[in-house]
Parts: sequence; C-alpha cells; structure tokens
Amino acid sequence: METIYEKTATSPVNIAVIKYWGKRDTTLILPTNPSLSVTLSQDHLHSKTTIRASSDFEKTRLWLNGVEDVDIEKNKRLQNCLRETRRLRKEYEEKLRKDKGPDKVLPLSEYNLHICSENNFPTAAGLASSASGFACLVYTLSQLYELPISTTELSKIARQGSGSACRSLFGGFVAWEMGSKDDGSDSQAVQIAPRDHWPELEALICIVSDAKKGVSSTEGMQTTVNTSTLLQHRIEHVVPVRMKYMIDAIHERDFQKFAEITMQDSNQFHAVCLDTFPPIFYLNDVSRAIIRMITEYNSTNSEKKLKAAYTFDAGPNAVIYTTSENIPELINLIAKYFPGNDDVKNYFFDPFQLFVGKTIGE
Ligand code: ADP
Ligand code: DP6
Ligand code: CO
Repeated sequence: METIYEKTATSPVNIAVIKYWGKRDTTLILPTNPSLSVTLSQDHLHSKTTIRASSDFEKTRLWLNGVEDVDIEKNKRLQNCLRETRRLRKEYEEKLRKDKGPDKVLPLSEYNLHICSENNFPTAAGLASSASGFACLVYTLSQLYELPISTTELSKIARQGSGSACRSLFGGFVAWEMGSKDDGSDSQAVQIAPRDHWPELEALICIVSDAKKGVSSTEGMQTTVNTSTLLQHRIEHVVPVRMKYMIDAIHERDFQKFAEITMQDSNQFHAVCLDTFPPIFYLNDVSRAIIRMITEYNSTNSEKKLKAAYTFDAGPNAVIYTTSENIPELINLIAKYFPGNDDVKNYFFDPFQLFVGKTIGE
C-alpha cells in the first residue's frame, strides 16, 4: 500500500451586497459586472473538504455530502480547477527538482485524487454553497500541493469553478473586479476592508427553505444575459455607481448608505430575474414577508433610520445585515412576525433556523 497524502480545510460563504449576475465568458467565468460581498464567519455555515492523493488511486473521484458524483469528467468547471492547480504543482515540482535534486520531490501532480466535501448548510438553495464549495476545493488543493501562490492568484482559479467562489478566499469585505482582459488574468477578488474594520456589523441568516432551487445560478444568469434588457441598464448605468458608493459606505462604516444600496441591489437583481424570459422566481411568500417586516422596522423606529438590510441570493433564504445593538429587537420582531404557530410554521424549513451572533469572518 502506497502512502496517502491528505489535507482538510474549511471555507466560508460570502453574501453579496452588489450582486454578480451574468457572464461575458462562460468557460473562464468572466462576469458582466463587478460585485461586492461580505464573508460570513465559518461558525455556522461552511464547506469542509478533504483531499487525498495517492499513486494507488485508479481515478480521480469526488463525493459531495456523502454521495459520489460519478460524472466528474463532464463537470468542466471542476476539471478546470483541477487542471490549473495541477499545472502549478507541476511547475513547482520542476523547480524543486532543480533546487533540491530529483529524488527529493513528490510527484503529487501525477497522482489521482479522492475529494470529499460536505456543506453544513443547504446545498444549491441560495446560500452560496458553490462559493464556499469551490473556494474550499481550490484552497485545500493548494495546501496539499504546497503551492507558493498568492490568495489573489488562487481567487482566479476558484472563479473558474464558480464565479462567487473567488470572493470566499478573502475574509471581511471583498470585491470581485470584473477585469477587461479576455484571458481573465485581471478578473480577481480583492479585499476592500478586513472584518475587524467594522466589528458591529452582523448578519442574521433566515433559512426559509432548504430545497434545491429549480433554476441553478449558472443556468439562470445565462438566460438573463440572453433575454433581459433591464440587465443591460443595470450593467452600464447602475452597478458602476453603486460599487463606488458601497466601497465608500464600507470605508466610512456608514450603515445608512450600506443598508440602502444592499436592499436596492437585492431588489434589482430579483427584478432582473423577473425581466428574464421565461421569468425566474427565486423569492417566495415568506421571503416577501421578510422584506415587508424589515421595511416596516426601518420606517417605524423612533430614530427614523435604516437599522437592518435584507438581501436574497438566487433562492428564497434571507440574509439580514444589521449592527449589533439591533439584534435583540430584530429577534423579537422575527418572533412576532413568524411566531412558529401552525399557520406560519408550514412556510419554514423545520426547524426554522436563525443564526445570530458573531457572523462575519476574519
Ligand atoms: P448556491 O446558491 O448554493 O451557490 P448554485 O446553483 O450556485 O447554488 O450552485 C450549487 C452547485 O455548486 C451544486 O449543485 C454543486 O455542483 C456545487 N457545489 C456546492 N457545494 C459544493 C462543494 N462543497 N464542493 C464542490 N461543489 C459544490
Ligand atoms: C445571486 O457564483 O453561484 O449569488 O458562477 O455560475 O457558479 P456561477 O454562479 P454563482 O452566482 C452567484 C449569484 C448570486 C450573486 C452573488 O453571489 O454575487
Ligand atoms: Co452559487
């Protein structure tokens, strides 16, 4: 029996406040607009991936949440991530061979892999499992291969697995610069500010449904690119202005600005989905009730301030950004609106999960 080399890592999800929706290159995964997100802490939601390499393995295999994906040859994005990391490992091995001598180098780039990944939250339900999942895959592999590579370079590889994954390699507040080159060499994630820049900012995650979405993000956004005229307006006239405004809001720790754009951008993303033909519906009745609840909270509080901001990815589950002093009030409000009686309980993934606390990672 040959030695098995193994590494395990975990990665966080990120929830965008300026949404990515649309590709100009579907193979390299180059977006039609820049985006910006907050990386959540790994305490509640994360992907955990173990990768093993051995000269004994007859083929490369992948298990997701305990089930083997028998079709990984057809999974182009996975293959692209594996090819890119292997290529870098090969380069590194050649360099090591020169520096240390041929016998000292482990030819890991030639071994097949067994990849085992688990998400501790609903997969493909609009809570960014593709982001934490591909970030984790690429990160774990870079650790196993001991690649001398920057996080920025790694983000360009993770991007080729799932666009949003490039942002999960950094903590805190992260932008995905769309880049202008055709080869994608400038389409990468950059940290706008670390998590401790704004310690009071918190995220509440309301799991409305754990069901797999009917239309995947990949498929949905391509139909949007092909059919929505509103998307063109968004790309040209809305996102560039919002990116600047949002970066300022974060630097200034201005929750009013941050909340306003976060909600507006979530709304416009779902409007673009509705403008897609045939239309895509990611929000459900409970999602809309959460929007109404936050709108009322923001308009009726004594300070007349925006105190919370909802945002929804490609699914019905809500993320509510707020600052720590409002958490007790928000918990009471959610208990009032969704008291868990039989009428309301039916709407929820059972048990209704509300994650509160230190929720934004390093
Ligand atoms: P989500 O809203 O959860 O990001 P997507 O439609 O973007 O949903 O992507 C879901 C897909 O991402 C899954 O069907 C699977 O192919 C991939 N994925 C999710 N988690 C992982 C993981 N841990 N490792 C590898 N791939 C993953
Ligand atoms: C609504 O990154 O999941 O969550 O690149 O095709 O894998 P692919 O799509 P994905 O799309 C995420 C869309 C979003 C917004 C965002 O995270 O910016
Ligand atoms: Co996704």
